Amino acid sequence: MAKLGILASIAMMIGALSFATVRSADAEGDSCQHKEQKTEMMKEACKKGQGAAKDAMKAFMKKAGIKSCNQCHSKLAPTYTLKDDAYEQFKKAGGK
Ligand code: HEC
Repeated sequence: MAKLGILASIAMMIGALSFATVRSADAEGDSCQHKEQKTEMMKEACKKGQGAAKDAMKAFMKKAGIKSCNQCHSKLAPTYTLKDDAYEQFKKAGGK
């Protein structure tokens, strides 16, 4: 029975390890989803990841006086699907 206990705890450790690996892969997966960044702002921000892109968008939006992400995005995290006129709106609001 003692052997079984040891086996069980080894199995648990392996489980915890692989869980940790999946978690860190998630954190590294924090990169932009669009294949190509067409704006200077997002090109820069996406070098650091999607979190940085989000922060840049928030700051940009505040400056431009826009209230909602949904004005340009039809979907938010994780795909951030753009509306047809998102680039137009982005430029009009002073984005580069
Ligand atoms: C004025 C229009 C506009 C608004 C408002 C806006 N976005 Fe964006 N967003 C864009 C455009 C245009 C792009 C694509 C940029 C590019 O291709 O370089 C983009 C791209 C992004 C990306 C990168 C997506 C990826 O993974 O490739 C994120 C993240 C993002 N926006 C988050 C937000 C969040 C969060 C908000 C609200 C706080 C927001 N956006 C509001 C226009 C907008």
